[in-house]
Amino acid sequence: MHTLTPIETAHDMYLHLRATLRDVVPDVELRYKAGLAAEINVLKRERNAIILGHNYMEPALFHSVADVGGDSLELSRQAAATDRDIIVFCGVRFMAETAKILNPTRTGLLPSAHGGRSVADGITAADVRALRAQHPGVPVVTYINTSAEVKAESDIICTSGNAARIVNSLDTDTVIFLPDEYLAGNVARETGKTLIGWTARCEVHDKFTVEDVASVRAQFPDTVILAHPECRPEVVDVVDFTGSTSAMINYVERTKAPRYLLLTECSMGDNIAAANPGKEMLRLCSVRCPHMNEITLEETLAALQHTQYVIDVPEDVRLRAHQALSRMLAVK
Ligand code: 13P
Repeated sequence: MHTLTPIETAHDMYLHLRATLRDVVPDVELRYKAGLAAEINVLKRERNAIILGHNYMEPALFHSVADVGGDSLELSRQAAATDRDIIVFCGVRFMAETAKILNPTRTGLLPSAHGGRSVADGITAADVRALRAQHPGVPVVTYINTSAEVKAESDIICTSGNAARIVNSLDTDTVIFLPDEYLAGNVARETGKTLIGWTARCEVHDKFTVEDVASVRAQFPDTVILAHPECRPEVVDVVDFTGSTSAMINYVERTKAPRYLLLTECSMGDNIAAANPGKEMLRLCSVRCPHMNEITLEETLAALQHTQYVIDVPEDVRLRAHQALSRMLAVK
């Protein structure tokens, strides 16, 4: 997790961005974005807002306006704890919804009119109810990348950072684990439990193959390869490390390989490269997350100027989803 002290003038912001990002972002882009970022930070203070930035945010945004940057689990904890009036979530819709569910008296804003996500769109509340009816008494563990309505039908939530821990915290050998097919496969292997899964997949992680890994290893034999657990289990089998976005960042920081390849959204490679100047980050940027890439500095500024786009969750849904999320946050 990273935290930033807000900078409010364009010149100081430019100097800060240049010091941090000069090897990964062209100067002309930094100059332009520094002005926007400084304006956002002024408005953020005036409106008593906090900006939470997922690790996937583009480098200039991540390193300029996000008060806190991290993975879904870390940012959920931050969202639950903040006493600011406005929470701007630079991430995707399910993350902003989670913030609203956990901290309902704050105004929750998503700087995008859409911000959907292929995993979250892959299951409905009715699907969860049908699975429960098919498997009476089996607990439902649901990935945080889902709608509030789906969370409300669940017993407990998990993220990619704590999925195995959450499944192991349940005193049962069989668990309904929704909705990401590959995450379920990876967690089943790790925990040795029987997971009844679903068929949703992340449109980015789904694309990485065993052949991609073999091809990179043939070209750059000294590369350490990291994969997010939303990747196919057969891909996870042939890489060197698997973990949440923050776990991958920490892994690069504490190890000393000359080269790394990340099998996940490619902006994160830029953020890691900026933080680890001596280590080369290879990137497979042919596959991008369209939803994360909707969040820009321009949209973040507009979010604070016009109080858009407000995230609302009906109270009956929120209360049930809150229970499932609180159970997750209670698991250490
Ligand atoms: P984490 O935030 O748990 O690392 O995963 C985020 C995600 O959406 C992966 O695609």
